[in-house]
Amino acid sequence: MKVGVSGKGGVGKTLLAGGLAKGFVDRGLKTIAIDADSSPNLGLTLGLKAEETRKIVPISENKPLVESKTSTGYSGVYNLNFSVDDIVKQYAVPTPLGPSLIVMGTVQSMGAGCMCAPTAVIRALLRHLVVERDEAVVLDLEAGVEHIGRGTAKQVDVLLIVADSNLKPLEIAKHIYDMAKAADMQQLYLVGNRVMNEAQKEAITNFAEKNGIPLLSFIPFDQKVIEADMLGETPLKNKEIEAVKTIDNICEILIKKTEQAQGLKK
Ligand SMILES: Nc1ncnc2c1ncn2[C@@H]1O[C@H](COP(=O)(O)OP(=O)(O)O)[C@@H](O)[C@H]1O
Ligand SMILES: [Mg+2]
Repeated sequence: MKVGVSGKGGVGKTLLAGGLAKGFVDRGLKTIAIDADSSPNLGLTLGLKAEETRKIVPISENKPLVESKTSTGYSGVYNLNFSVDDIVKQYAVPTPLGPSLIVMGTVQSMGAGCMCAPTAVIRALLRHLVVERDEAVVLDLEAGVEHIGRGTAKQVDVLLIVADSNLKPLEIAKHIYDMAKAADMQQLYLVGNRVMNEAQKEAITNFAEKNGIPLLSFIPFDQKVIEADMLGETPLKNKEIEAVKTIDNICEILIKKTEQAQGLKK
């Protein structure tokens, strides 16, 4: 299963992506967590220390790799027929919570030149990652709609769109939903995060209904998440945190939905 997590900056994408990746590992799935945000911090959420996270070389900054995998010798023409096994073996970093982490980096870090090559590598990596039944890929996407527009998110089976009850994140969620729908993505769900009360639940529910966006789950606000973040610790280790429990439950829901979808395809 390949799951993408999208939404406005600061809505809780990394918490959800990290929690899902951990949840899949806890259920026996071999899991790769891909940090596709240009300011990557998924490593911290997966239990790495700040200095360990900083040491990881993002794929997009490895110019020789990007060029060797994409260049055909003609500018603007890229060869996408490559195996990604070596990239995964070479670049996936083990994390304390279990998932293997790949940091994509930012396309800007390639310099002012063409953005096609690194973006193509990222997309091809996702497309060529053969995900078996006992494997999962979780993709922590860049804030906003960038990756949807460039087609990166299209490479996932399920796209989760995170928002809280404020109008801006909800509007961005709608924008992402509309773009993903237009790109013919099938499994799209809204996840309401940092929910403090019934009024916020209602605001998210009403927005989802009005815009026809399927609502998957609500993750409650929990002060302990912020406290853990402040201390530079991952909140995901603490199973007493309601938000962490809820995210673990979302894993269960996604596994069931994927099994159903696979059953329908047969
Ligand atoms: N359910 C929650 N309860 C409390 N704080 C949360 C919750 N989800 C996220 N946060 C806090 O919100 C901030 C942004 O979360 P993060 O996962 O980094 O968002 P994003 O990846 O979308 O930018 C962090 O400080 C995080 O601790
Ligand atoms: Mg993030």
